[in-house]
Amino acid sequence: MKAREHWGSRVGFLLATAGSAIGLGSLWKFPYVTGKYGGGLFVLIYLFLTFLIGVPIFMGELVIGRSALACPVNAFGELSMPKRSWQILGWTSCFAPLLVFSFYCVVSGWALNYALMSLLNFSAGKSDDQIREAFQVLFSSFDINLLWTTLFLLVTTGVVYKGIRQGIEFWSKILMPLLLIFLLLLLAYSATLSGFKESFFFVFAPHAEKMNAAGFLEALGLACFTLSVGMGVIITYGSYMKQHEDIPKTAFVIAMANLIVSVLAAMMIFPIIFTFHFPSIGGPGLLFETMPVLFAKLPGTLITSTIFFLLVVFAALTSTISLMEVLVATATEVYGISRGKSCFLVALLTFILSIPSASSGSSVIFPDWALLYGKNFFTTVDSFAFSWLLPINVLFTSIFLGYFMDKHLRQTAFSAGCKWPILYKPWLFFVRIVVPLAILLILLQGTTLVDFDTLFR
Ligand code: PHE
Repeated sequence: MKAREHWGSRVGFLLATAGSAIGLGSLWKFPYVTGKYGGGLFVLIYLFLTFLIGVPIFMGELVIGRSALACPVNAFGELSMPKRSWQILGWTSCFAPLLVFSFYCVVSGWALNYALMSLLNFSAGKSDDQIREAFQVLFSSFDINLLWTTLFLLVTTGVVYKGIRQGIEFWSKILMPLLLIFLLLLLAYSATLSGFKESFFFVFAPHAEKMNAAGFLEALGLACFTLSVGMGVIITYGSYMKQHEDIPKTAFVIAMANLIVSVLAAMMIFPIIFTFHFPSIGGPGLLFETMPVLFAKLPGTLITSTIFFLLVVFAALTSTISLMEVLVATATEVYGISRGKSCFLVALLTFILSIPSASSGSSVIFPDWALLYGKNFFTTVDSFAFSWLLPINVLFTSIFLGYFMDKHLRQTAFSAGCKWPILYKPWLFFVRIVVPLAILLILLQGTTLVDFDTLFR
């Protein structure tokens, strides 16, 4: 067996993986998409899809990582039959995190900026509109965006440079408990607001009015994104896993943690919105425009607002660490360069890629982008990675696992340390049939070749 750095402890591995899963997807995207599709039914569907689609592919990526003990490019290459034919899937699995990393740093930079602004009590004495406008000022200021993006990128690089145990595991063990404490504190605070009851029904009662096929498919995409699959992350983290670790149990624990945090985040954010009858707007607006306005109306603005944005920063950081680790592991293993050099090169590449995203609001770079493509650069990269690269990677990963990977290796990796090896057959059925079919549906809807909404109306 190859010598490879492993996670120091089971808890460390679980916290690092949960850290990758819990990120802007749970704190920012999940609440607003839940709002968009009317609440409860969407949450229920998201829950089912997490377990039916997200979890099987998550287990599959751990199986690949543990079998190959390598970065995604080498893992798909080495496990291929015939030789190296699937290596290309390793490369596309690295391209996705590179793109996501570049714009994730921009959003995370906003959060970092807002944490500082909150500490400076920026909303004191300002009208609602002035507080809201602060985001537009930030968004359209290229240099300030770039400053915070770079700062966040440097922090991520610092953690990844220290390696698996001393960097990723060490920081996950600190940041994840803090994240949970902050979340619970804010939730307790939200629970005192008059809109809490309303938001409870909103999130848990299955209203069906606003739900449609597009919502179903969005829930599927989100279930995969929030579990960090399709981007080589789980393969890479799985390759540092010890042989006695239980794969199905790990997947179940992470999925539960991710779901709980997503629902808690929604339960924390909606009461604030309901209490003041704000329209639940989506996208960057929800976090950076609406929330500061609301915090300003409530007692303890400085503390609640700072804690809230630090929570976002911590969640984002444990996710960007995992995105960067895929790229660094790949550069180190494929090109045989040192970790330090890889970190430098990956950070430089990400920095260059993040420049047009950081300038999306100011149009300093590619001023005509939105005119030509209908979306700004930032949103283009986001939707390309989320709606195309991720589902395509998941689709081919499930086909690889189900039909092309060596049967013996697959079963051995799945069963090592597993308390319920009986789950192997049902898992294989999901990976072979259910996951590819579900992903094909997302892709069909995405290409607008088939519009399920009009089809079932
Ligand atoms: N799961 C993260 C989130 O919910 C995003 C992510 C995707 C991180 C893929 C790493 C890899 O925000």
